[in-house]
Amino acid sequence: MRARDLIRQATPALEAAGIDTARLDAELLVAHAIGIERSRLFLDDPELDAAQRERAEALLAARAEHRIPVAQLVGAWWFDGHELEVTADVLVPRPETELLVERTAELAPHGAGVIDVGTGSGAIAIALAARRPDLTITASDVSEAALAVARRNAAAVARAERTSSAPPATEEVRSAPWLAPIAFQHASLLGAWRGEVVISNPPYVEDDWRAQASPELAHEPELALYAGADGLDVIRALVAQCAAHAEVALVLLEHGHQQGAAIRDLLAEAGFPDPITEPDLAGHDRMTWARRG
Ligand SMILES: C[S@@+](CC[C@H](N)C(=O)[O-])C[C@H]1O[C@@H](n2cnc3c(N)ncnc32)[C@H](O)[C@@H]1O
Repeated sequence: MRARDLIRQATPALEAAGIDTARLDAELLVAHAIGIERSRLFLDDPELDAAQRERAEALLAARAEHRIPVAQLVGAWWFDGHELEVTADVLVPRPETELLVERTAELAPHGAGVIDVGTGSGAIAIALAARRPDLTITASDVSEAALAVARRNAAAVARAERTSSAPPATEEVRSAPWLAPIAFQHASLLGAWRGEVVISNPPYVEDDWRAQASPELAHEPELALYAGADGLDVIRALVAQCAAHAEVALVLLEHGHQQGAAIRDLLAEAGFPDPITEPDLAGHDRMTWARRG
């Protein structure tokens, strides 16, 4: 069977399973089963051999029947132009989080120490390191399993651009001048880190949301998603720590679209005046940031 025929056949089955991105998902999974870039599907329309077809059908079934996210099935996803490894131990990086990276890259003082709290796959820390090589970045997470993925991603992205193919020898990924150094910390919230800029896409979903969440969400780590009755437990504790550390001058937080006002109040009460909430491309409030001093 040719790739295009399999995709044509699989798309209605994915649609029937309630998947909005059925055609795209079918293309990504078939391309992955063949071992080619998605763009090659249209240029070459390759014939699948038996093993490739078996792989493709297993992936399509896992997507339709178990609603496993495509990123977990193919083991990778794109964020801010970087291809990152994704496993069930990390949140699949979302495109709206690029706003947090973009704003931090604009606002962080030259040479600042920055912590990415809840780094997950390392998406934010890595994207920021590539945009702002002058920063010193700490990627921190309470999940050791997530940190292992973040470490591999940082090393892979660094390697991809290094002239030498030798992997970084130490815990800290130091590469060519185009990528800021990234250190890793296994800790809750700020841990032992001290510096000027705190960024985070923390868990912010209300506990009750579980009942109505999409089936895909059930495959992502609970620790990455849920944060108490109003979804603000982690943010509340993080803002309190930021307030207590005098060096912290800039805080940027991603949050749910109905949490902007609550987070502005939290930041203002903690001594970060005039917080600003910004919408994502869909027009939903997505992140809030504030400075002090
Ligand atoms: C929403 S995910 C964000 C992952 C990644 N930064 C991204 O944007 O794709 C939240 C992350 O916060 C971590 N986390 C949850 N509670 C935490 C805490 N108290 N301290 C540090 N990290 C925490 C989770 O393990 C998870 O990796």
